[in-house]
Amino acid sequence: MTRSLVQNQFGANAAAYATSDVHARGESLAMLVAMSAPRPEWVGLDVATGAGHMALAFSPHVAHIIASDITEEMLAEARALAHKGGHSNIETSLARAERLPFPDQTFDFVCCRLAAHHFLDVAAFVSEAVRVLKPGGTFALVDNVSPDATTSPGLDRDALRTAGIVYNQFEKLRDPSHGRALTMAEWVELVADAGLEITGREFVVKEMAFGPWVQRMACDAATVARLTAMLDRSPDNGRGGLVAFLMPRDHAGDVWFSLREMLLVARKSN
Ligand SMILES: C[S@@+](CC[C@H](N)C(=O)[O-])C[C@H]1O[C@@H](n2cnc3c(N)ncnc32)[C@H](O)[C@@H]1O
Repeated sequence: MTRSLVQNQFGANAAAYATSDVHARGESLAMLVAMSAPRPEWVGLDVATGAGHMALAFSPHVAHIIASDITEEMLAEARALAHKGGHSNIETSLARAERLPFPDQTFDFVCCRLAAHHFLDVAAFVSEAVRVLKPGGTFALVDNVSPDATTSPGLDRDALRTAGIVYNQFEKLRDPSHGRALTMAEWVELVADAGLEITGREFVVKEMAFGPWVQRMACDAATVARLTAMLDRSPDNGRGGLVAFLMPRDHAGDVWFSLREMLLVARKSN
């Protein structure tokens, strides 16, 4: 079978995700667990688990969790971290988000963190998540979002539109397997259209250091130079909306910028 862009990108860089601060220690891990109010008898599925950090965060609070991903190298990292931490209630499964290999109504919760912007068909993923949830089950999502009026109240409509397009180009340049980060408003509509009732919604600002961010995807020097140019803060760089959204600044010998993570929890009806 031909490997997809996602499998090539993440397969080659899997180990960096196991230790990445943003992934292993991000504040959205504990927040999403708290917002989901897990119960000890719950059985869940973590979609696009990467090195398994979301599954590891849920593990002490639930009975069992399947950590799934399309990239085998990532699942190997997840198994190693679960084993190292003594999380014996985590198992792994090779699975594509848009076509989950599980029967209808299997899980009490389905979670997915920092991955949906890679999916080829986000609506198919949400529909699959709803299908495999039991009635009354919980859908819990974290993803980077594109700018909209909620995340960036200072930007007018045109600036938001431009910033959204350029932000996704910026991400795609660093990681060709990036698809598109939806806005919070788009997520709300998608989740509601799938018949889920939203019970909680938050967003957090995530501070990113440029150096580790490009190293995690092993960007070459030319790509690093183009990404650096996109963060140019001079007023005539033609990317005003992007700079207003990412707010690049010098800090501790690196350039830092801000991303927005949306946390959304929703319930399937009984
Ligand atoms: C940034 S990493 C995951 C982060 C992880 N969930 C966490 O919280 O640390 C993104 C993951 O999405 C997986 N992925 C991308 N597209 C996928 C798809 N269509 N189905 C399943 N997994 C996918 C990649 O293999 C990769 O492991």
